[in-house]
Amino acid sequence: MTPEQFLELARVLPEPLLLVSSEGHLLATNQPVADMLGLRRQELRDRMLVELVNESSDEILKYLQACSTSRAMVLGCLTLCKNDGQTLVCRSQGAVIQPWSTESSAIILLRLENRVIANNNFVLLNKKIDELAKEVQKRKQAEEALWKANQDLEIRVDKRTNALQETLNELQLTQSQLIQAEKMSGLGQMVAGVAHEINNPVNFIYANLHHAQKYTEDLMNLLQMYQQIYPNSPIEIQEQIELIDLDFIIKDIIKLFQSMRVGTERIQKVVKSLRNFSRLDEAALKSVNVHEGIDSTLMILENRLQAIHKSPITIIKKYGQLPNITCYPCQLNQVFMNIIANAIDALEESAIIISKHKSTIYNPQIQIHTKIIDEKWVAITIADNGVGINEEIKSKLFDPFFTTKPVGKGTGLGLSVSYQIIVEKHCGELSYFSTPGKGTEFVIKIPVR
Ligand SMILES: Nc1ncnc2c1ncn2[C@@H]1O[C@H](COP(=O)(O)OP(=O)(O)OP(=O)(O)O)[C@@H](O)[C@H]1O
Ligand SMILES: [Mg+2]
Repeated sequence: MTPEQFLELARVLPEPLLLVSSEGHLLATNQPVADMLGLRRQELRDRMLVELVNESSDEILKYLQACSTSRAMVLGCLTLCKNDGQTLVCRSQGAVIQPWSTESSAIILLRLENRVIANNNFVLLNKKIDELAKEVQKRKQAEEALWKANQDLEIRVDKRTNALQETLNELQLTQSQLIQAEKMSGLGQMVAGVAHEINNPVNFIYANLHHAQKYTEDLMNLLQMYQQIYPNSPIEIQEQIELIDLDFIIKDIIKLFQSMRVGTERIQKVVKSLRNFSRLDEAALKSVNVHEGIDSTLMILENRLQAIHKSPITIIKKYGQLPNITCYPCQLNQVFMNIIANAIDALEESAIIISKHKSTIYNPQIQIHTKIIDEKWVAITIADNGVGINEEIKSKLFDPFFTTKPVGKGTGLGLSVSYQIIVEKHCGELSYFSTPGKGTEFVIKIPVR
């Protein structure tokens, strides 16, 4: 900007503005500057800045030098000497508007602001600003370091929390295993105890039944002999024969013995299943027929299979030709028990829902299939047509203590323990597929050895 252009512009501005060369020549001023000094504008022509201020020419040149080499606004302080002999402390903002060249020196625009400053020495406020900027920079760095330290701390806290969470999970798992083991060992002991108590008297009854039947038949034959040899028995005897309906007794007593035999045989079967299920004596690995384990479990759950909302559960078995499996039989039976009991619960729930729509007939079913996958693996599938499992709980099913059953009915341990038994104890796989409203299928895969 030429001094002329500057004057054009400055004339309309109310702020005191000066144009000076870097050597301190006043090139142009506007009216507010003249007013501040109490001079006429003409009196300011061809003057040096140093003549109008209190500061030394050294200080002035230093300030103008700073202005001409800085790209930013340079703040300074000028003490104006007014025409009436008084002084006026001003803040000045200097900016180079034409840089120094070989033809001319730099031209600087100074904007004055009347301000009483405590220290009215000439001060290069920029120095202060620089210091402040450095301070700000330092603080920023400190802040960044703090932020980083904070991040590190958060990462460490996260790591610690994860480690704690893992420990907690492990503890929960151990706790659940302990509870389940306790539950199952209690159940196993009770089952084994009951089986033992029943076993002896039943065997005793069963063994004697045969003799009792034989003796009774002999007595009947003897009676018939009497009747043939002495057809005219005394009247009292004939009356007694009619009273007790001897003909009926002779016919019925054989049937009675038959049904007693069937009954005791059934008790013997139940006892065998109970013992088979508990297998307390077989805590170690043993080669067993898994079908026996499944059948025993079904036998134990028999009464639960009988009555659900008037329609008993149909068990459809499709057993393949499985080899004996080397496993912990007692634990494997627990898995069958947990999965079949869950299936029964799901069928019961379904039956309740369906019974509300009276027109629908419900046919609750559990299908148990076994098959050889290859010479090393077998699969056991237990499927029900119960309520099924909702998508949102699928990820939690094997979690210890996860249950959707009411308090007192489910502990939420059945599947988590089954998972441990199959996956960790037997190096097998436990998975399931479910369609809500249609049913669920659990698949157990275990190695033959
Ligand atoms: N066949 C199934 N059909 C539908 N839901 C099932 C089935 N099996 C398991 N579930 C769901 O999985 C949950 C967890 O089963 P889990 O056997 O671990 O515990 P629980 O049966 O609730 O209690 P418990 O410890 O007495 O077995 C059940 O509460 C149920 O919601
Ligand atoms: Mg269960």
